[in-house]
Amino acid sequence: MTTRKKVLGILEKYRDTYISGQFIGEELKISRGAIWKNINQLRAQGYEIESKTNRGYRLLKGNDKLSDAGIRNYLKKEYSDTEIIVLDSVDSTNSFAKKYAVDREGWMIIVANKQTAGRGRRGRAFSSPENGVYMSMVLRPTIDLHEIYFSTILTVVAVHRVLSRLTDEKIMIKWVNDLFVGNRKICGILTELVSSVESMKVEFVVAGVGINVNSSLNAYPCELDKIVGILEISDLDRNKLIAEIANEAFAIFDNYDKAAIIDEYKSFQLLLGKEVKFENEGKLRTAIALDITENGELLVIDGDEKIILNAGEISVKLSE
Ligand code: BTN
Repeated sequence: MTTRKKVLGILEKYRDTYISGQFIGEELKISRGAIWKNINQLRAQGYEIESKTNRGYRLLKGNDKLSDAGIRNYLKKEYSDTEIIVLDSVDSTNSFAKKYAVDREGWMIIVANKQTAGRGRRGRAFSSPENGVYMSMVLRPTIDLHEIYFSTILTVVAVHRVLSRLTDEKIMIKWVNDLFVGNRKICGILTELVSSVESMKVEFVVAGVGINVNSSLNAYPCELDKIVGILEISDLDRNKLIAEIANEAFAIFDNYDKAAIIDEYKSFQLLLGKEVKFENEGKLRTAIALDITENGELLVIDGDEKIILNAGEISVKLSE
């Protein structure tokens, strides 16, 4: 790790508090001159760092730049070895993760300040303007291939828990992978799988999370005007939010009770009891959403006919 990252690590750890040059120097075994040089480099990168004679340096609270040190600072001890990659701009953090994690080991967090070709489910684009939260987690769970579809539900529940702690807004889950406030989508989740044909094993799962946070509607294409929602969070620290999502997701993937997760997922379900539209065997159909099955499918009823919708094959819209 570079000295600059180590200096940032200390400032992040004591964010909003003055840290003396002597303390930093002793911790990192570097001279006052070297500290000054590194602080100036960090300032040039956009970090707001105050300095005061006799008090030292302070990273300002409102600073919201993504960084490895900033995220790591909030990761639970048991995940402190996680590889973290911070990019300013990338086509898609999921696409990056799918290539990067091959032939490497361990769980990872890949984040970007913006995406130029963010991807959603079923080949759709995910609009990803600057300063949102775009993250992909590389997970290597010991889940059977036939249970792997459950990764989406685990990720949705993890993100839902974290966002619900941060806001008083009631956040609902729209089957299968979206989070809504009212009738607006504030977050989308795309889980992808890299498996090996030879071993018939899951190599890793990429769980991608995109959150529209503290941005302006003008930043999104106008065709999304009626659907995009923006979560307003005061004093947002994206590093902390990302770390908390990873802490929650890593813990859930490590050890979960399937029935309890389904209950939680179901209790925040936006669609239940509502009329939904979906395409089935080439026909546009309308039905009432009845339930989430024990496997996370959506059970709907059209007249007397009950239909189980599988997330891999279907996309459902609320009727207007
Ligand atoms: C959807 O709306 O269908 C899912 C959207 C998922 C977006 C996230 S942003 C981070 C990660 N990288 C991507 O390209 N997609 C996911």
